[in-house]
Amino acid sequence: MRKVTVPLGQRSYPILVGGSLLDALGRHTRAAGLAGRCAIIADANVAPRFGHIVAASLQAAGFAPMMVTVPPGEKSKNLRVVAHCYDQLARHRLERKSFIVALGGGVTGDLAGFVAATYLRGIAFVQVPTTLLAQVDSSVGGKVGVNLDAGKNLVGAFHQPRLVLCDLDVLGTLPDREYRAGLAEIIKYGIIYDEPLFRRLEKNLDRFLARDPKIVGPVVARCCEIKADVVGQDETESGLRAILNFGHTLGHAIEAITAYGTFLHGEAISVGQVAAAMLSARLRGFAPAEVDRVRELFRRAGLPVALKFSAAQRKRLLEAMRLDKKVSGGEIKFVLADRIGAAVWGQHVPDTDVHAVLDALAANA
Ligand SMILES: NC(=O)c1ccc[n+]([C@@H]2O[C@H](COP(=O)([O-])OP(=O)(O)OC[C@H]3O[C@@H](n4cnc5c(N)ncnc54)[C@H](O)[C@@H]3O)[C@@H](O)[C@H]2O)c1
Ligand SMILES: [Zn+2]
Repeated sequence: MRKVTVPLGQRSYPILVGGSLLDALGRHTRAAGLAGRCAIIADANVAPRFGHIVAASLQAAGFAPMMVTVPPGEKSKNLRVVAHCYDQLARHRLERKSFIVALGGGVTGDLAGFVAATYLRGIAFVQVPTTLLAQVDSSVGGKVGVNLDAGKNLVGAFHQPRLVLCDLDVLGTLPDREYRAGLAEIIKYGIIYDEPLFRRLEKNLDRFLARDPKIVGPVVARCCEIKADVVGQDETESGLRAILNFGHTLGHAIEAITAYGTFLHGEAISVGQVAAAMLSARLRGFAPAEVDRVRELFRRAGLPVALKFSAAQRKRLLEAMRLDKKVSGGEIKFVLADRIGAAVWGQHVPDTDVHAVLDALAANA
């Protein structure tokens, strides 16, 4: 087992990465200083697979867990489901000292974390991420929230978990497409922060795709370490934390104009990162050969690297980029890279460059 610490003073917490960890959740939760009643929130795909293991482990360690099951999918990340969770917690008399276990992917983590941030003005929570994306990204860093009809993640809070437990065994049942989508965030860490990680992925991609724990374990732990390092320096995204949005300006816009129905998040940011690499070549001296390396790694990972948009779609894409909640004063800001392993945030990109890159993406499609 590997242990990474998110360094946030009094609110620091461990991320545990390894095999067969679900069985040990109760023990680690106790070590994190939690006690009493708790609620496990999981979606209907995850609850029947792992709910009983998690509940048994908590019970064996002296906790009194109850189960709240929510429908799977992004559509559960809304205030109606939040209200349903509050009702369940109140019915089972969860109190200030009680806590929530978020068992599932990023949807469950964001939803359950938001419930924990707001129920009784905030109770403790533990993240037990079960998708690759959630293990390397969404479970770490304390951003929790839900969607409004007007857009994604528009209501939320910063609420750090007390413990993150990444059991690599649970990834075994993850559909291939979801697994590859999680890989898009992993490649991102290489591009923005860690050239050796990028090289390790180039060298071992086949083993990673075959879910070989000898390569997946260290890579997941390294990604958590990078996120912990970034969040430790800039918890509320006043600067550095923005580099985690590499590829996300275009990626979010692609998700928005396709109504979140065509691409998984990881697929949209794969195209977005290829575009960001091309913009970096135009504006930051990122070497063209490095753009090829980036594109090639996403391609080998089975992720999309090109996309054609109609004129109408392109107009909506630019509008969506301007509506992104990270925009201030109407100006689209990009995260760009100077080289693989070094990113810069808050970069203004003229529309002409955006159009040129969209042309290039279409030409490759
Ligand atoms: N808070 C953050 O910092 C942050 C960062 C990135 C993404 N997110 C959010 O994360 C969400 C996406 O997360 P996701 O990709 O994990 O999606 P998800 O939670 O919807 O999970 C994807 C699918 O996999 C299923 N599943 C989960 N674990 C499984 C397992 N072990 N075996 C089989 N099936 C399993 C789920 O039921 C679901 O159908 C988005 O809402 C996004 O906004 C948040
Ligand atoms: Zn992302």
